[in-house]
Amino acid sequence: MAKKSQATWGGRFTAGPADLMLQFSESVSFDRRLAPFDVAGSKAHSAMLARAGLITAKERDAIHAGLDAILAEIEAGKFHWDTKLEDVHMNIEAALTKSVPAAAKLHTARSRNDQVATDMRLFFKHACAVLREKILGAQRALLAVAVVNRDVLIPGYTHLQRAQPVYLAHHLFAWLEMLERDRSRLGDVATHANWCPLGVGAIAGTTLPIDREFTAKALGFVDAKGRPQVTQNSMDTVADRDLFIEFAAACATFGVHLSRMAEDLILWTSAEFRFVDLPDEFCTGSSLMPQKKNSDSCELLRGKSARLQGNLHTLLTLVKGLPLTYNRDLQEDKPPVFDSFDQAALCADVLAGTVAGLTVRRDRCAAAVSDPTLLATDLADYLVMKGVPFREAHHAVGAVVRLAETNAVALDQLPTEEVHKVHPAIGPDWTEVFDLSRALAKRTGTGMPGPKQLARQFNRWKRLLK
Ligand code: ARG
Repeated sequence: MAKKSQATWGGRFTAGPADLMLQFSESVSFDRRLAPFDVAGSKAHSAMLARAGLITAKERDAIHAGLDAILAEIEAGKFHWDTKLEDVHMNIEAALTKSVPAAAKLHTARSRNDQVATDMRLFFKHACAVLREKILGAQRALLAVAVVNRDVLIPGYTHLQRAQPVYLAHHLFAWLEMLERDRSRLGDVATHANWCPLGVGAIAGTTLPIDREFTAKALGFVDAKGRPQVTQNSMDTVADRDLFIEFAAACATFGVHLSRMAEDLILWTSAEFRFVDLPDEFCTGSSLMPQKKNSDSCELLRGKSARLQGNLHTLLTLVKGLPLTYNRDLQEDKPPVFDSFDQAALCADVLAGTVAGLTVRRDRCAAAVSDPTLLATDLADYLVMKGVPFREAHHAVGAVVRLAETNAVALDQLPTEEVHKVHPAIGPDWTEVFDLSRALAKRTGTGMPGPKQLARQFNRWKRLLK
């Protein structure tokens, strides 16, 4: 026999939901973490109702006190969550109603559709601030490595082939740029989140005399001048999930960056490179091979990026083709968002921890960067300065490189007469090109790895990451 519905929406029902349906449709197991935002929303909403004369000041105060008590209970882990009540919103409202009779008026001029949209916008503002701070922590750890290894040179790679020499710090600063864009993207998401949905009701607002701007102000949905920002279309407000996608995209992009940094670090720790050693605290061993020290934190950072991309994909697919406005499908929007937040936060901390314990093998870096072919392009530039067209210079240097290879000597050890035969513009001063510090010093333009620019970037990052 079907049970009579006890749900808040049970008035028009003669039978309550089947146990299987309850198990299938509940979201409180994952949306309970929205409780602080839900309580804040309900406090602002009831304050607005009192101002509009829809509840009394006394009722408002009772609701506020009751909500504070419930939140304290939740935070102490003493609150009883009931899946029969579906979600965080109804759990809190039901608990409040038990102790505060006026709570029966709390849902006046409100729907769970605008309520959940509000909770999530508050969540996004919080989540973006947390992630920005954590990424900043990772950036600071990277800057510290750059500072102590300021003078270390390594080969820069294209196609994973040695290309040109760069300061290690220049490579690390490339990572800082990537992370800075992640921080900026998350800042944009927070800005986009800063519009208050509350008051649009289920889809078409309310006939009651509410004040949406008041609620928006109370919840901090304001512009730089403190003016309230409220969403402008009731239907779009309850249907819109762009922020979820934007947030997940920002996390996925961060994940892609993490995976690239992790991959560089994994390569750099291999015996073939050995540019760096990772801290034992962030590595693990093999259960079989006693000698192994695996860079698991980096491999997991690389792996987690798949998960962050998957979450974005889930959200895009969830919303695609969905008719306006709210559909229950949208309840599935939260697990991927929460997962992206949790994993991205963890990743930022792990990156910071891994980098903080990183040691640079100066001898290995110096050996790798001493490869004179890294300065073949500089030799072409040398010819250009002597009036040789670049294409011709490029070709001539190619022939010099081939000559060194055939004779099995280092590029800079070829006899000048031989080299001169390849191109007459190559004079006795040609070996100066292979002086590394001279080569770096010549790279003076903005964004280049020369020491002058590097000093500027050190100052810039120290200022930005203060
Ligand atoms: N738990 C629901 C969700 O997250 C809240 C909104 C429910 N709205 C509704 N019309 N059933 O989407």
